[in-house]
Amino acid sequence: MFYPEELVEEVRMKNDIVDVISGYVRLQKKGSNHWGLCPFHNEKSPSFAVSGNKQMYHCFGCGVSGNVYTFIMSYENYTFPEAVKMLAGRAGVNLPEVEYTEEMRRKENKRARLLEVNKEAAKFFYYQLRTPRGEIGLQYLKKRELTEETMKKFGLGYAGKNGTDLVQYLRQKGFEDELIKEAGLASFSETRGLSSQFWNRVMFPIQDINHRVIGFGGRVMGDGEPKYLNSPETPIFDKRRNLYGMNFARTARSGNIILCEGYMDVIAMQQAGFTQAVASLGTAFTSEQASLLHRYTENVLLAYDSDGAGVKAALRGIGILREAGLYAKIINMQPYKDPDEFMKNLGKDAFKERIDQAENSFFFEIRILERDYDLKDPESKTRFYREIAKKLCGFSEEVERENYLQAVAEKYAIGADNLRKLVISYASQTGLARPIERPKSGVQQKSSPQESRKKSQRLLLTWLTDEPGVYQKIKRYISPEDFTEDLYKQVAARLFSDLDKGNYNPAGIISMFTDEEEQREAASLFNTNLPALETKQEKEKAFRDILLAVKRNSYEYYTSKLGTDVNALKQVIEGKKALEELAKAHISLD
Ligand code: CTP
Ligand code: MN
Repeated sequence: MFYPEELVEEVRMKNDIVDVISGYVRLQKKGSNHWGLCPFHNEKSPSFAVSGNKQMYHCFGCGVSGNVYTFIMSYENYTFPEAVKMLAGRAGVNLPEVEYTEEMRRKENKRARLLEVNKEAAKFFYYQLRTPRGEIGLQYLKKRELTEETMKKFGLGYAGKNGTDLVQYLRQKGFEDELIKEAGLASFSETRGLSSQFWNRVMFPIQDINHRVIGFGGRVMGDGEPKYLNSPETPIFDKRRNLYGMNFARTARSGNIILCEGYMDVIAMQQAGFTQAVASLGTAFTSEQASLLHRYTENVLLAYDSDGAGVKAALRGIGILREAGLYAKIINMQPYKDPDEFMKNLGKDAFKERIDQAENSFFFEIRILERDYDLKDPESKTRFYREIAKKLCGFSEEVERENYLQAVAEKYAIGADNLRKLVISYASQTGLARPIERPKSGVQQKSSPQESRKKSQRLLLTWLTDEPGVYQKIKRYISPEDFTEDLYKQVAARLFSDLDKGNYNPAGIISMFTDEEEQREAASLFNTNLPALETKQEKEKAFRDILLAVKRNSYEYYTSKLGTDVNALKQVIEGKKALEELAKAHISLD
């Protein structure tokens, strides 16, 4: 934290959220909320709600939420200290300059400077593309059928054959050599001095979801190696957590996101009107990117290359998406190599058809699997069926598993009963017990273990923030340590201590975090819908299930840490005791 917590709170309280947001968005009071058009996605009717009571905003359309700091950070692209400064200024609160430690000032400064130098470099490349020297780049992009408008939208540019122009330009703008190097824009050599990293390439600025340039990809002109050169990781460029095109895709409102392999694929798709297209950043798709996608959609369409490498990448991607609780379908690009080529040859209507025909990821996996077996050979065929049975065991929800079983049985002309027997035999062999019927607590269903662990922890926190009174009834069973997700643990610690002191303050909890993403995640705890339950019994049962799920997870978590974590033993013993007590206890929600 850069400023003392009390000061951060003071500034927050002196800036009424309705007041502040009214300066940016036209708000209208309806009921207990003020409503307006969400500034973070395109919409025609208002689903952006600002609550004066809670001092929070939440968009029912795109799901963003936060307190007044989160708003300013997202809207103005400010860092946390910048947002504090601005709001302090607005409310006439004096901020002590000294509160920055040297180290923090440097770090903050560094991020801001890296963003600036990237922005300047992007401008430089953009300008170069339009000079005679950039003609080769411009011709190249035109040959690839990009319109002027598209080049502008993506800020495409050109890095020339002269290695020192960029460096001189940046120096003249006041950037130190050290920073230019750290941004990965230039490197030093004895013979050439400091010279540009990108050379004779068309340049793709990589933007974060707030349109800030965080790095570059450059494609070589002609056949040089490597074909694409990307900026190195820097404090602002985390390749695992960003997706190319996401800054546009987030407002596409298409009900899905299309994941491609390359920058040119994204651009060709977006030019054709599929503004929901994104790609990873020259590295394999990651689980962090899956979480990013999850913020905007549940449905991901894979538009990977149709070659062997593309299929392999798709299979890997499917696993990651599933683990993150997303549904994946695969778009068939045949006979073309990638979306870019497809679009050029068959156009957008044909692509739209391919979207509608996209193959369910499970069938895709089975179809690829089938290639390894000879279905004319009984032995091989049997092994293929066993593999299918094994895959079916991956569905923990019975209805879903049965639906897939029937569909796959029909498709491959396997007797459904026989396949079911295989599934049961496989499940019992490997100790995969038949899943029990689970109650409607909102904890269950089609999610991965990781996701459902997170979900029960989130539900418990949401419940407590919704009905803080319940805390007193369960505090003897639960502690912040039971939240194995780091952010939740921090929220729980603060929430519990606030509740113990009798001052419950949700909007304040959000500004414990200085990172915009973390603020949003914390804020989402206060804006999630709990399962709609009718009767008191249902509610109490659901609450109990959630509490038990969290406790059980915690118990298992610390059991697995025994011997490696000094805290684990204590947690295991206490956890066991709490679970035993909970088995007998009745928790009333009155
Ligand atoms: N890539 C990379 N480094 C390489 C090759 C590829 O980082 N040497 C990344 C780039 O992000 C590229 C993506 O992988 O966009 C897909 O690679 P590829 O299929 O080879 O490129 P295309 O998008 O088809 O490129 P182009 O159409 O420009 O030939
Ligand atoms: Mn291509």
